[in-house]
Amino acid sequence: MCGIVGYIGDRQAAPILLEGLKKLEYRGYDSAGVAVYNDNQVNVVKAKGRLKILDDKLDGGKNLPGTMGIGHTRWATHGAPSDVNSHPHTSSSGNIAVVHNGIIENYLKLREYLIGKGYEFVSDTDTEVVAHLADYYYNGDLIDTIIKVINRVEGSYALGIVCKDKPDELVAVRKDSPLIVGLGENENFIASDIPAILEHTRNIYLLEDKEIVLLKKDEVKIFNIDKEEIKKEVFTVNWDVSAAEKGGYEHFMIKEICEQPKVIKDTVSPRLKDGTIVLDDIKLTKEDVDSIKKIYIVACGTASYAGMVGKYVIEKLVRIPVEVDVASEFRYRNPIIDQDTLVILISQSGETADTLAALREAKKQGARILSVVNVVGSSIARESDNVLYTWAGPEIAVASTKAYSAQLAAMYLIALYMGLKKGTVSEQEVENIIEHLKTIPDKVANILNHKEKIQYYASQYFNAKDVFFLGRGLDYAVALEGSLKLKEISYVHSEAYAAGELKHGTIALIEQGTLVIALATQEHLFDKMLSNIKEVKARGAVVIAVAQEGNTEIEKEADFVLYLPQVDQLLAPSLTVIPLQLFAYYVAVAKGCDVDKPRNLAKSVTVE
Ligand code: F6R
Repeated sequence: MCGIVGYIGDRQAAPILLEGLKKLEYRGYDSAGVAVYNDNQVNVVKAKGRLKILDDKLDGGKNLPGTMGIGHTRWATHGAPSDVNSHPHTSSSGNIAVVHNGIIENYLKLREYLIGKGYEFVSDTDTEVVAHLADYYYNGDLIDTIIKVINRVEGSYALGIVCKDKPDELVAVRKDSPLIVGLGENENFIASDIPAILEHTRNIYLLEDKEIVLLKKDEVKIFNIDKEEIKKEVFTVNWDVSAAEKGGYEHFMIKEICEQPKVIKDTVSPRLKDGTIVLDDIKLTKEDVDSIKKIYIVACGTASYAGMVGKYVIEKLVRIPVEVDVASEFRYRNPIIDQDTLVILISQSGETADTLAALREAKKQGARILSVVNVVGSSIARESDNVLYTWAGPEIAVASTKAYSAQLAAMYLIALYMGLKKGTVSEQEVENIIEHLKTIPDKVANILNHKEKIQYYASQYFNAKDVFFLGRGLDYAVALEGSLKLKEISYVHSEAYAAGELKHGTIALIEQGTLVIALATQEHLFDKMLSNIKEVKARGAVVIAVAQEGNTEIEKEADFVLYLPQVDQLLAPSLTVIPLQLFAYYVAVAKGCDVDKPRNLAKSVTVE
């Protein structure tokens, strides 16, 4: 949801800002802009469309001199993508320039107020009020100014601000939108995310809400809302630049799909010791687990589908009722929560606005909080009682793949851990499942080695108008994810259905040639799936089935069968999702879609 970057130092700022924005383009890509101080002026250049247009306009930044500036890549919320609505926004006097990620909820009231004070608005954005408000309050001290601004604005923001009168200062602040500070040698940075500055520094500050940072080229100071200076620990990033590069792959998405064996291993291995699960990061005692009467898993999109798998697995192994809720519903529906409730939040970014709000709501009502998060130090991680990190590394493609696989692994770990504590699974059972869990990375690699077969199916069916994904039990949970992947990157309409539910209405949509992807990895539901396949075949569907090796009976019913290596059926989702991700990917490629940056989407939804 918009990416911001800022630089102050000795080098030319514009090329650094543009390079940084390239790394943040996954956050929004409908327009971009930069503001760079030079010769007693703040020069602003913006362009509607992909960053490339701005990059070309500035010849990679070369034709915009100056050593301090801010940049922005936009995902429109208020006002259509256009040059004028692009950031940075400036005050009428041109003294202040602002980049913003988030939403200023009371912008209409502030706009009226500022118009009354003689300010003229040129854009439809909420952000422009910040530029004028900062100008209105500016008294020669940027920290005072920011404090006054944030006392007036409501909503979420990460703000980067420069001022014509202050060529040696860049200020920034955040609330409910991510912002980090990069610490260099005679240069400093701000950014929405680490990859934007990683080629320059590994040393960063993770800002908390309403901490205000003043950057000079050789000094960084952080203040609270009372203008008291705060000391913070430097966080050192331990992954390298190549983790956020394509590394020879055509798209980030296929690179990230192929990284899954490693990601699963990295998430699981450090938590396995002597045939059991050790989650040092989670402080739930046996008494705690015994006292939990109800679990909510709360997340958005793909993360919520990982939660669906979690529900099946936790209910089976821990015998505690689990409800999966999308965060945007959970936060407003007054859920029944008390201190015997455990709320598990799942989030790759750790910044999703609805998931973060759900966390705060659950906490307020006394629930215990456990979050499964990928981005270290993100808001959800920091505000949770317990955090289980997924070690997926940076996920750049907008469509989530490796984070989902890591989230599944985390769900298995949590279920086994809680089951052992509660005594609902024996040590022997846990040891057995762990043995299977250890085989998952190699089995995923094995499926990836045969990806050409899936590419072939995609080449045959990329023109499909509608695709139905069917499954029962855990296969239904994975069908939801497969269907989301297909629609979000290839724009093919698709639906996931619990296979037994189809005949209660939706089967009316199946006609001659409709593509159905039927997941049949669950042994105890296999015969039921065969019947469901027969039902859709009888209405003319073409069926691609996914089954475990050895279940050849399915060949009699389905048109094509993709076999997966045998695995404990509880763990099958970790394998079943792989061909579905690949299918979505190859369909999108065959259709010529922008795989890593699908239309209308952005990674990390930090607004409601
Ligand atoms: C889909 C996708 C989204 C995210 C969702 C939650 O491929 O990526 O559905 O899963 O926006 O994001 P996080 O996990 O960052 O909270």
